[in-house]
This record gives sequence, C-alpha cells and structure tokens, in this order.
Amino acid sequence: MITAPTAVKKNESKTVQVSESQGMDFDRIGIAGASKGLAKVLDTARKVSRSDSSVLITGESGTGKELIARAIHKNSPRHDGPMVVINCGAIPSELLESELFGHEKGAFTGAHRSRIGRFEIADQGTIFLDEIGDMSPDLQVKLLRAIQERQFERVGGTVTIEVDIRVISATNKDLPAAIENKSFREDLYYRLNVIPIHILPLRERKEDILSLAEHFQNNLAKRVKGYQQKIFSQVTQQALLRYDWPGNIRELENLVERISVLVEEQTIELHDLPEYIANNSSQKISPSVASVLNNGIGFNEAVDHYQRSLMLHALNETGWVKARAADLLKMNRTTLVEKIKKMNIAPENETPFF
Ligand SMILES: Nc1ncnc2c1ncn2[C@@H]1O[C@H](COP(=O)(O)OP(=O)(O)O)[C@@H](O)[C@H]1O
Ligand SMILES: [Mg+2]
Repeated sequence: MITAPTAVKKNESKTVQVSESQGMDFDRIGIAGASKGLAKVLDTARKVSRSDSSVLITGESGTGKELIARAIHKNSPRHDGPMVVINCGAIPSELLESELFGHEKGAFTGAHRSRIGRFEIADQGTIFLDEIGDMSPDLQVKLLRAIQERQFERVGGTVTIEVDIRVISATNKDLPAAIENKSFREDLYYRLNVIPIHILPLRERKEDILSLAEHFQNNLAKRVKGYQQKIFSQVTQQALLRYDWPGNIRELENLVERISVLVEEQTIELHDLPEYIANNSSQKISPSVASVLNNGIGFNEAVDHYQRSLMLHALNETGWVKARAADLLKMNRTTLVEKIKKMNIAPENETPFF
C-alpha cells in the first residue's frame, strides 16, 4: 500500500516527540514541569492514552486537569477525532441534559428545532466531562446508562443513538465524600473512575514553580512579537517558591503574564510582585480575597485554606501541643484533632530551595 506523504509526516512527528521525563513516546503538548508528582501523572497519562478506559482526573482548580485530558486525547488512537469539552458545573441542570444528549424539535418550550448534543459531536473522539461532581443525581442516572451502553436518546426523542466515545471526567470535589452524603451515585463513580489520575496542588510540587514561570515566559516570547524575556531576581524566585498558590498553575500563569506586561525592566524584582506574594513570609498565609476572586478558587477551597492556615498557625505557635493549640483557637480539642486528620495537616519539613 502506498501511504500518502502527509500521513507519513504525521507518524514521523508522533514518534519524534519524546517525553523529557520518561524517554517514551508521548507528546506533552506544552505541559511543563519536572517534579516527581507530575512525572507520575504523565506516566499514567501515557499508559492510558493507548486504551479506551474511562479516566477520572482529580485535583484542585487550576492544577492542569483539562490540559492532561487534552494530552491523553492527543496521544490516543482517537487523536484525529474531536475532543469535546463540557463543563457540567457551568450549565443549569435543566439545560445540561439537552447539551449532553441533544433534543428534538418541540421537546420543551423554546426547542424550535432539533439539535444534536455533545455526545453525538464527540463520536469517534473523546468527551471531557468537567466538574462532574456538580451534576444533578437525576442526570447522573442518564449519564451512567449512556456511558455503560454507549447509547442514548435525545431529549423528547424516541430513536436510540449509538456513539463510539472515550470518556474522561474531572472534578475538584471529594467524590467519595459526595457518595457518602448521597449527592453522587456510587455506580457512576466506579464507571468513571476506572483509571484515576490525581494532580497535586502546586504547593506540593514546588519544584515545578520556576520551570513553569520560565515556560510561560517562553510562551509570551512566542506570542508577542519583540518580547524580551525577563529574569526573576533571586529574592523574587524565593518569594514565588514560598507562596502557596491557592489558584495553582492558573494563578502563576496569570501572574507571569501580568508582570511581564507591566514590568519594563529586564529583571523582575520583589517589589514588582503583588503584596500578598512579596510579603508572604511563610506558607501559612491564606489567599487574599483578591486572589480568590481573580483566580477562580471558589468559596469552599478558600475557606478550607483559611481553616488550614489558622490551625497550622496555632499548632506552630504551641509546638504542636494540640490541647494548647485548641485553647488558642477557642475550639474543642477533639474537633481540632479530627480536622487535622481530615485535612491532612502535618508539621512542615522546611526543605530549602537554595
Ligand atoms: N504543567 C503545566 N504546564 C504548562 N501549563 C499548565 C500546566 N498545568 C496547567 N497549565 C495551564 O494552567 C491553566 C489551568 O489549567 P487547566 O488544565 O485549565 O486546570 P484545571 O482544569 O485543573 O482547572 C491552563 O492555562 C493550562 O494550560
Ligand atoms: Mg478546568
């Protein structure tokens, strides 16, 4: 068989792309970082990209869940098919069913014509169900059937439609806890979570911070004509490493872009950083209201952060004597102990970076 030159080229470019961390055939599609945590994620992503198994990606917002989902699709045999993204948290639940499965004309008020849904659009490709933890229980039942049987009906329709899709979902929620309080179906969870991938928050893989900052600078240089790459002074680097990054990589990316535009000098100095990063002398400081609002962190995560900061502060003040820390916080000792366990709070082993 004669292969068309374009097809040959495509295969070539696929094998030339070698992952830096594994030395294996995996296109990182611009995923930067060299931490062990990320290497593990990429290794799993590489393995699952060859299969059709459902993947559930968990992690705080801004950690790169969607980017990993894209890399899995890009490296899969389905890469010529579509990758369809749907944010289940952003669409009101009455509309979500028709977004997913489509509807027939007259199915509900305002359905003036029939419309195909994301499942049909994703045929031969991958569907990425983002914020899956926000889906209503009613729709969870329908989704389970669609995934299990790879078939469904449009809203108001009678014809069963079959699709060939790969499902990747993501959430920043604790789904086992949601199962416990009956807001998430256990059967759907097992269906989605065949291969789990957990992405660590940036504060738990600080080795990635500087290489990400450099990566975003490189991107700017590619995008903006004549852009001179800037360097971060030593103290600026230290402040970046000390900061907690509640908005994770999204926050770092926004920051790098902002200061790169605003700072005209070659070197980015400490005073060029926002107050809350420059003056953050310890990791225990929680995100400012501004950083919560600007980085899509969300109420619950911000509150978790604040609680964690308060407890860590009190524990450090009292040399980790829990009874005394509880006194300081005017809370019950057993409540404190429970929270420490639940939130996985541990004494920090300060690893120096320089
Ligand atoms: N390892 C990484 N290297 C480069 N950019 C990254 C990395 N992880 C995340 N990003 C970028 O950070 C932003 C947030 O990532 P995203 O995948 O949307 O996170 P999530 O879906 O977890 O909220 C995106 O612009 C993404 O491209
Ligand atoms: Mg996302």
